[in-house]
Amino acid sequence: MAPDRPPQTPASLSGPEPGRGRGHGRGHEPEHERGRGHEPERGHEPERESGPGHEREQTDRDREKELAARAAAELVEDGMALGLGTGSTVAYLLSALAERARELTRTHCVATSPQTARIAREIGLNVRELDELTARAGGLDLAIDGADQIDEAGWLIKGGGGAHTREKIVAAAARRFVVIVSANKLVERITGPVPLEVMEFGAHTTLRAVGDARLRRPGERGVGKAGRTDDAVQRSPDGNLLAWYEGPIDDPRELAARLSATPGVVAHGLFAPEMVSEAIVGDAGTVRRRAGGKPSA
Ligand code: 5RP
Repeated sequence: MAPDRPPQTPASLSGPEPGRGRGHGRGHEPEHERGRGHEPERGHEPERESGPGHEREQTDRDREKELAARAAAELVEDGMALGLGTGSTVAYLLSALAERARELTRTHCVATSPQTARIAREIGLNVRELDELTARAGGLDLAIDGADQIDEAGWLIKGGGGAHTREKIVAAAARRFVVIVSANKLVERITGPVPLEVMEFGAHTTLRAVGDARLRRPGERGVGKAGRTDDAVQRSPDGNLLAWYEGPIDDPRELAARLSATPGVVAHGLFAPEMVSEAIVGDAGTVRRRAGGKPSA
């Protein structure tokens, strides 16, 4: 299948922009995400939020995200069925793929958010429906996505951008799932809050059943990248409500099972180690790789 239009590099992907405010690679982010204050690195972020030190730190993080994303882009081969995540690190991935779009004309992608789909189309990638790709190829060859935290046991927290349900479906459909992060996302043990996507019907009942949970508010730190904004609440790309579980994570597996078993919870942002094939970490100018618990096919 030919790409919808010739490969090109849109303005939103042309060249990095120095860190600005809470700039997570904002030069690479879709325009409507800018200034939204997406803050996925909860729990690892120094309190300082402005000033030259903070700006420098943001720029370093952006560089690390870009390093990880560029290393992951090299895994993409023409003809692959490819899953694309959501977020500022994935924006760097798309930027790297934009440079190779002419070589990737037989690559078919599925995007986990409208933002990712839009940029992927702009750079000339073939964006398809997940069902179409899995029907044709029996699954995705590779999926690449960012994360909010990765701990030493390999657990991830995802969903700072509100797209974790789609991201989980895509990661599970991929024979190889590669996570790309800056080094500040590495933690000893994951800590909350954990993103939740919940049904609007009975949302407060669901959150009471979960316990220690609340809806994500518009304009709040760490929210709104993937959701609609024309509302008093934050929504996922599929229109469900976004929430936080803010209680303890004593045992991630037990919590994941409990959240999954709560009626009304569509999906939570805990990704088990066995879902991840590999983590690529940009770390102070170098790239480190950590094997995950999912055997690569
Ligand atoms: C979106 C996600 C993102 O991958 C996660 O929030 C990391 O974002 P970023 O790359 O902007 O730091 O899970 O739902």
